[in-house]
Amino acid sequence: MRVRQRVGAQLEIAGALAAVLEWSAMEPTLRRARTGDAVEIQRLIKAYADRGQMLARSLSEIYDNLRDFFVVEDAAGLLGCAACHVTWEDLAEVKCMAVRADRQGQGWGRKLLEACIEDAASIGVNRAFVLTYVPEFFERRGFQRIEKSDLPQKIWSECVRCVHFPDCGEIALTFDLQDAGQ
Ligand SMILES: CC(C)(COP(=O)(O)OP(=O)(O)OC[C@H]1O[C@@H](n2cnc3c(N)ncnc32)[C@H](O)[C@@H]1OP(=O)(O)O)[C@@H](O)C(=O)NCCC(=O)NCCS
Repeated sequence: MRVRQRVGAQLEIAGALAAVLEWSAMEPTLRRARTGDAVEIQRLIKAYADRGQMLARSLSEIYDNLRDFFVVEDAAGLLGCAACHVTWEDLAEVKCMAVRADRQGQGWGRKLLEACIEDAASIGVNRAFVLTYVPEFFERRGFQRIEKSDLPQKIWSECVRCVHFPDCGEIALTFDLQDAGQ
């Protein structure tokens, strides 16, 4: 009886170990955000907002715009996020792009950007833009620098909330979806 119990316990431990191993080997997946992701999205963004690299986002703002968001998830939680927000008839902003520090340089930023561009194209947007401190990342995907003043005035509504306003060093870039055949 005692032997059977011991074997049973060992099998249970082995099963639990296998489950942990399977969980930790989980391939990251890119998907649309769900309501349960909002707190983690905010945390991802905050890590960079605290260093002045991004604009912080309130939870309310994230929930309001949750349908704009894509996330990448691995076993440890969300490793990245980005949003594509329609601002005008033919214009969308790529925003809130952040990849967890330990996962940078693995192509996830690029994949999130692709998801935003494809999403914009699928609903008839012709042009995407971004305001960023890392223009080189976007230039690698074909974005081109423009003067911030070339963007519609509506875009500036968010800027007044930024810690860097009015001496902002962010660079504006746009991407023509039609030229790129999207
Ligand atoms: C910018 C950021 C999203 C890039 O994510 P990532 O997953 O590291 O990027 P990827 O691995 O997909 O890199 C794609 C390409 O961009 C390049 N790249 C990545 N980060 C870069 C940076 N900071 N500056 C210049 N090029 C960069 C990579 O070398 C790679 O080039 P390649 O295709 O020629 O090999 C990430 O560094 C980040 O979260 N930064 C802090 C927050 C931030 O500044 N967000 C932007 C707000 S608009």
